[in-house]
Amino acid sequence: MAVLSLPLLNHKRLSLRHLALTGLAFTLFYIIYNSFLPPFYPGFHQPPPHRRPPVSWKSNTRPEEWARRAQAVKGAFIHAYRGYEKFAFGRDEVMPLTNVPIDNFNGWGVTMVDSLDTMLLMGLTEEFERALPLVEQTTFHLNDTLHAPFFETVIRYLGGLLSAHALSSEPILLARADDLGRLLSPAFNTSSGFPAYAVNTVSGQTRGPLTAILAEIASCQLEYLYLAKATGKKEHFDKANHINHLLESAALGTQYGGMLPVRWNLTSGTPWDGSAQLSVGAAADSAHEYLLKQYLLSGKTDKASLEMYLRTTTRIITSLLYLSPTRHLLYVTDASVSPTTTSPSHVFEHLSCFLPGLFTLGASLLPLDNLEELGVNWDDIIDGAGAGSGRGASGKGEYGLTREERARWRKVGRYNLKELHMWVAEGLGESCYLMYADQKSGLGPDEVVFNSNYKTSTGSTHTGGNRVDGSRQGSKGRPGIGWGVGDGDGIGEVDDGKWFDVVERWRRSGGRGPPPGVGVKKRVVYDDTEKSMGPYPGHARDYLIRKTEYLLRPETIESIYLLWRTTGDDRWRERGWLIFEAIERESKTPTAYATIKTVHTDPPRQDNSMPSYFLAETLKYLYLLFMDQDLIPLDKWVFNTEAHPFPVFNWTLTEKNLFGIP
Ligand SMILES: *[C@@H]1O[C@H](CO)[C@@H](O)[C@H](O)[C@H]1NC(C)=O
Ligand SMILES: *[C@@H]1O[C@H](CO)[C@@H](O)[C@H](O)[C@H]1NC(C)=O
Ligand SMILES: *[C@@H]1O[C@H](CO)[C@@H](O)[C@H](O)[C@H]1NC(C)=O
Ligand SMILES: *[C@@H]1O[C@H](CO)[C@@H](O)[C@H](O)[C@H]1NC(C)=O
Repeated sequence: MAVLSLPLLNHKRLSLRHLALTGLAFTLFYIIYNSFLPPFYPGFHQPPPHRRPPVSWKSNTRPEEWARRAQAVKGAFIHAYRGYEKFAFGRDEVMPLTNVPIDNFNGWGVTMVDSLDTMLLMGLTEEFERALPLVEQTTFHLNDTLHAPFFETVIRYLGGLLSAHALSSEPILLARADDLGRLLSPAFNTSSGFPAYAVNTVSGQTRGPLTAILAEIASCQLEYLYLAKATGKKEHFDKANHINHLLESAALGTQYGGMLPVRWNLTSGTPWDGSAQLSVGAAADSAHEYLLKQYLLSGKTDKASLEMYLRTTTRIITSLLYLSPTRHLLYVTDASVSPTTTSPSHVFEHLSCFLPGLFTLGASLLPLDNLEELGVNWDDIIDGAGAGSGRGASGKGEYGLTREERARWRKVGRYNLKELHMWVAEGLGESCYLMYADQKSGLGPDEVVFNSNYKTSTGSTHTGGNRVDGSRQGSKGRPGIGWGVGDGDGIGEVDDGKWFDVVERWRRSGGRGPPPGVGVKKRVVYDDTEKSMGPYPGHARDYLIRKTEYLLRPETIESIYLLWRTTGDDRWRERGWLIFEAIERESKTPTAYATIKTVHTDPPRQDNSMPSYFLAETLKYLYLLFMDQDLIPLDKWVFNTEAHPFPVFNWTLTEKNLFGIP
């Protein structure tokens, strides 16, 4: 893609008439520009800017066509599930290129259990009734050499059973869920009470390192809470409750700047003392997601989770969101933190693409523009994130907010938070979609790394439009500079592409036009002569692909679904259809669907795997996206991180007394 350069005036002889006409044109342009854009953004002493509500885009696709598209997704599910039934029924997954079964998740039929609620939503009662007897017979036993990975077993099996029970009221499913919850519970037999990595369901023996990973210890509360609600059993409630207490006290006590770090000490139940990492991607993702979702599931009563969600999202906004230098794509990355610095890796993961969905969910279901109504005081939110003092009394670093970070948090509190969160949702959603649209296959890679060289590429302030100077200082002929992992800038440096700082400059200079990183961007598809894997000056995409696989993952489609449902903007729906078409074109095999090894080649290469989440999540969200009927209203249901919906509930007085809920 060519970088536009400004037409040079000295190509033509300037006459007075030219100048007068140009002046008139500029004046007219200025008047029109200002009358179409929101009024001057007045700064913080005025009431918050009331931008006109975004006009949601309506596509020309007719209702019958959407209905047809939903049926096409149902057809894809049937194709995938038939392949599983034919070659691997009762086993975990079918390998789609060789048509042989594989037991990679305990051998209890993970594809079947993960798919039950999708079948119910799609009205596939025959498939459901063929599966039910097998589920009924499942004992969840393992021979003594094997251990069930706790996290995956909870989100896929326990989540799948509970959700299918909620949708069908079939008692067998709840009985099996109750069994499984109990058989897995020895995993909590660690000194801290956080679950171990894996557990044998017969002996209760646990396995796994003593340093655990956030997502794996803190993404089971929705399942155990709803299990407690559905069975009335305190033992299940206690599991979730204990984890929440640990997270809460760790967050308040060690103060990692408001966000739970990735690595934890299973013995002490506190963050690991070694180097700290903040991430919304692999190893962390669903733990952050569950903060908001627990609040929603339990009828918006769990205020501690809500406050942790607000701190986490603020830390994400001020520390982990960046803009790319040329296209101004908004992306979220992970960072290693020390008491005084936060160093972003500039890696952007497919797994992180659930985040736009989470932000739009929170912004649409919570009165974020009226924190009082939520019972939240912004100063308490900031104080709860702690103050970093460089060196703590313990001699170890204290990881609270640095002075600059604190200042950013105060500024965040003065924005209309609902609006700010929507900008994040829409900007990130755009980038997640473009990761697909940029590839010839139409499918998104698992990981990219962004050019972090924001300053040299953009000059001073920039809020959109084309970059003027295409050169990237110091990088000519030296591939790798500005692209590497861990090559981040410390907090406090101005103009390193930190999104919030650019938004602040945009606001201070009048806040005209869409906020930085928000709005529709063009795709950049490389032709065959361009290398998609090597950096070079003028690299038009702003990123390199680091992991070329598309693993049939759901995150981008999940966010597209939530963005469409919450904003009504059909643009998201049309994009979801493009992605589904790409899946049909590139992933479909004669018997099922296959993951993709190389999204950047034409044609892409397939791999011999069909993860169960493809049926549980990817196809479910696509189906819901094309159905006009709102089968799972977001204010009445909460999806677990494997897309299994649980109904929102209130604790009754009896339950409160029994479980000890204040
Ligand atoms: C336990 O499972 C392992 C791995 O599947 C297998 O090799 C072994 O024979 C099994 N042992 C028993 C006693 O079934
Ligand atoms: C919990 O672990 C301890 C030792 O670590 C063991 O003695 C005990 O039997 C275990 N309890 C269960 C229920 O597995
Ligand atoms: C975890 O915490 C315990 C108790 O505080 C401590 O003895 C142990 O060294 C810690 N382990 C690691 C890996 O940091
Ligand atoms: C929970 O309680 C609130 C307030 O009492 C009520 O408005 C809401 O409908 C209840 N939700 C459910 C699912 O019962």
